[in-house]
Amino acid sequence: MIKVDNLVKFYGEHQALKGISCNINKGEIVGFLGPNGAGKSTMMRIITGYLPATSGYVYLDNSEVYEDPISVKKRIGYMPENVSLYNEMSILEYLKFFAMLKGIPKKQKKISIDNTIELTGLGQYKHRLIGHLSKGYKQRTGLAQAILNDPDVLILDEPTSGLDPNQLIEIRSLIKNLGGSRTVILSTHILTEVEDMCERALIIDKGVLIAEDTIKELKRTMDAEILGSNVELKVLKNIDNALMAVREVTGVKQAYKGNSDNILIEGESGIDIRPVVVKHIVNSGFDILEIKSIERSLEEVFIHLTAKKKKDKN
Ligand SMILES: Nc1ncnc2c1ncn2[C@@H]1O[C@H](COP(=O)(O)OP(=O)(O)OP(=O)(O)O)[C@@H](O)[C@H]1O
Ligand SMILES: [Mg+2]
Repeated sequence: MIKVDNLVKFYGEHQALKGISCNINKGEIVGFLGPNGAGKSTMMRIITGYLPATSGYVYLDNSEVYEDPISVKKRIGYMPENVSLYNEMSILEYLKFFAMLKGIPKKQKKISIDNTIELTGLGQYKHRLIGHLSKGYKQRTGLAQAILNDPDVLILDEPTSGLDPNQLIEIRSLIKNLGGSRTVILSTHILTEVEDMCERALIIDKGVLIAEDTIKELKRTMDAEILGSNVELKVLKNIDNALMAVREVTGVKQAYKGNSDNILIEGESGIDIRPVVVKHIVNSGFDILEIKSIERSLEEVFIHLTAKKKKDKN
């Protein structure tokens, strides 16, 4: 549905995007993940047609964003990183104003606004001034503006930044609901957020797409490489002696006691240390209760992929 083809963006001398290509399918929720300055917002601004690329193309179905900006903008709802909300307007006035900017026909205006308010749960506050809203409700108002013309693509730049845990849960479930048949691209630094909301993640670092896959596959790829190199072990008794025994195993880089009567082991990468650890510990006379690979968080996936990219380059 969306095809990004070799996108390059220079801001003066600085190259923010270094030739990114990717496809986004109809109806999926995709997360752009990457550290500060990775190029996420730049990419989003180009995809929505608010910023010209230095070179490369973005297609929404058969329309190129820059060649056909009007038809593309009609189909995209965009919530920028720092939504400029007009604090002295009420939510209703703000949405009326945007309905006009978006060229929503007069007779459709009321229905669009009512639907949007319903969807975003803003009914109770529609007459309140935006300046008097909590951060979470401001964020909802920004989302409302983005979905006002019922676009089939939603592009949300850090929709959950700065929210407290409760607001975070609410906005995440709202975004998932808005998803439905819509295609959603959102950006975030919060890795669990992508895990929670998105079917797929595009990991961007310094203007380069370093990985692109389902969360499950990203984890699997990494596990295939370093499977078994982070291990948790539980023994029946004599944990301190068992710890010393673990440290004797070839391939164990370090081992230490965890918080729940367990031993955490880090092995050399590239080998599964579980079999050798089991053998040595059993032979040394300890009873093993449990041994398992430690599940990796997306945080680790990200750090690993970034580090790997750097290593591959050198
Ligand atoms: N208008 C601009 N002029 C010059 N440089 C810019 C401009 N906008 C962004 N940049 C630079 O381009 C790079 C990518 O910025 P971008 O805002 O796209 O990153 P980001 O991934 O959205 O980061 P963040 O997570 O902090 O929002 C950064 O190095 C940034 O400093
Ligand atoms: Mg950004």
